[in-house]
Amino acid sequence: MIKTFLALAGKIVEKRDKENLKMSQQPVSKNIHWHHGKLTAEAREDKLKQKGAVIWFTGLSASGKSTVARELELALVENGKNAAVLDGDNIRHGLNKNLGFSPEDRTENIRRIGEVAKLFCETNVIAVTAFISPYRADRDLVRQLLPAGRFFEVLCDTPIEVCEQRDPKGLYKKARAGEIKDFTGISAPYEAPLNPELVLKCGTETLEESTRRVLQLLSEHGII
Ligand code: ADX
Repeated sequence: MIKTFLALAGKIVEKRDKENLKMSQQPVSKNIHWHHGKLTAEAREDKLKQKGAVIWFTGLSASGKSTVARELELALVENGKNAAVLDGDNIRHGLNKNLGFSPEDRTENIRRIGEVAKLFCETNVIAVTAFISPYRADRDLVRQLLPAGRFFEVLCDTPIEVCEQRDPKGLYKKARAGEIKDFTGISAPYEAPLNPELVLKCGTETLEESTRRVLQLLSEHGII
């Protein structure tokens, strides 16, 4: 009896959460109006001599996302480009400190970062993001937020065995021991991109190689 009641209550909460998610695609506020600036995107690019873009790294924990992202940031800034890393672990200390690792929270994590990355892009910064971002649909939503040719999905395609062997934060060990639940790759899903702009073999290629390949991609697309 109690079990049936709890199962029913769980279903109601699940349904409410799904409805809330759908609603969250629309602004909650009604009487709001878009305010336009005086600069066109072209004029801004012309004056600042830089194009904005979003380099979206995705992959398992310890697959190399943050390492390549930081190297790329350094290379870009050393070449006179304004670039900034948005990193999952860091952002979860601030802007997203109220989010956990449930599917809904991960979706909200990526939605917010997608919006932040878009603001960076609109102000001619190269946003380099490093989030597991395990759900294809969440990443596709971010892609849709951005103008064509400004979103570059980069998969850090590192076998889970390699990630687990690296285990720099000891999280795989904890996940295997059941001390962390919903851990990506162990007890939570990872949906690899179907058509990423670039696939990095971070388990075998060097950091320099990976960085060079991303820089080349940006150069081929006229971002740098
Ligand atoms: S995401 O799935 O929502 O995109 P995000 O990139 O922000 O994840 O954070 C992932 C980081 O949080 C991992 O690199 C790891 O250090 C830490 N972490 C803690 N718990 C988990 C978990 N259950 N699953 C995956 N990563 C976790």
